[in-house]
Amino acid sequence: MAKEKSIKEIEDLPGVGPTIAEKLRSSGYDTLDKIGVASPHELSELVGMSVEAAKKAVDAAKQATTLEFSTGSALYDERKTIGRITTNCKELNELLGGGVEAKGITEAYGKFASGKTQLGFQLTVNAQLPVESGGLGGGVLFIDTEGTFRPERIEAIASASSMDPKEVLANIFVVRATTTEQQILSIEKADKLIKEHNIKLIVVDSLMSLFRSEYPGRGALGERQQKLNSHIHRLQQLADNHNLAVYITNQVMDNPGILFGDPTTPVGGNIVAHAATTRLYMRKSKEDKRIIRLVDSPNMPEGEVVIKITAGGIRD
Ligand code: GTP
Ligand code: MG
Repeated sequence: MAKEKSIKEIEDLPGVGPTIAEKLRSSGYDTLDKIGVASPHELSELVGMSVEAAKKAVDAAKQATTLEFSTGSALYDERKTIGRITTNCKELNELLGGGVEAKGITEAYGKFASGKTQLGFQLTVNAQLPVESGGLGGGVLFIDTEGTFRPERIEAIASASSMDPKEVLANIFVVRATTTEQQILSIEKADKLIKEHNIKLIVVDSLMSLFRSEYPGRGALGERQQKLNSHIHRLQQLADNHNLAVYITNQVMDNPGILFGDPTTPVGGNIVAHAATTRLYMRKSKEDKRIIRLVDSPNMPEGEVVIKITAGGIRD
């Protein structure tokens, strides 16, 4: 019996040459998994092969895809090795189960001056600490969509932690994005930078401001959410593939549907709500005090802590 050719690429599928492979890719069928669950009729129409041939290609793709299973105990061991970035505050670290987690998206939402950016600066410095000291020992990609990145603050925060401000600043790669395209591209093209500079934290400050101003009104909502969805999906992918942490800040609005209690709601709807592994709600309190509430976490109970914004960064 002839040995079956192992199928690794789309081109390895029966009846699929370079031209058809290209057509498949440009129609969104860019992995064997996707082709394996496609309808032969649809494929046939898309790339102009017979339904019969398309069926053979789909069957072969289905055969070639492998699903991997992990046991709960293996996942538990793996979770114990996930790195965390200290926030500098003992209580906030505890609220977060040890700090801001790698391989996940941590979102901070709240009104202006609630401290979202300041917490981002603190994490930007702390991510560079060695693992033993509560960091991830790597560089930072900082996407600034509001023009509020301040090297002076980084300098002050680093100095307060006895780190060399020059070194810390040299390890931060800032993109000042002024359009959603720039914001999206800076993440799409991040792979190379992440590898070359051992990026361990991506900050997006803020996630929604450009999306909100570029897609105003109900009519544009569908398109906005679609773009946003793939942007966030990509952030999660980078977090998983490179074992890095993602910190995003988010704006709020008053939800008129909430009649009792605090109507403050993060913007971005379900897409952001589902994508954020951990959500923090930040509120201004007296003077330099801020209240941080953990509102959503897969494994930690809800709770609230008070922190202070000081010249040297975030403190208990
Ligand atoms: P928006 O981006 O406007 O939505 O707000 P934000 O939540 O990002 O606020 P941000 O993190 O920028 O916090 C601003 C607060 O930090 C202000 O109340 C400032 O007083 C405080 N702050 C900024 N720099 C310093 C500083 O050097 N020392 C102290 N003590 N506080 C500072
Ligand atoms: Mg801010």
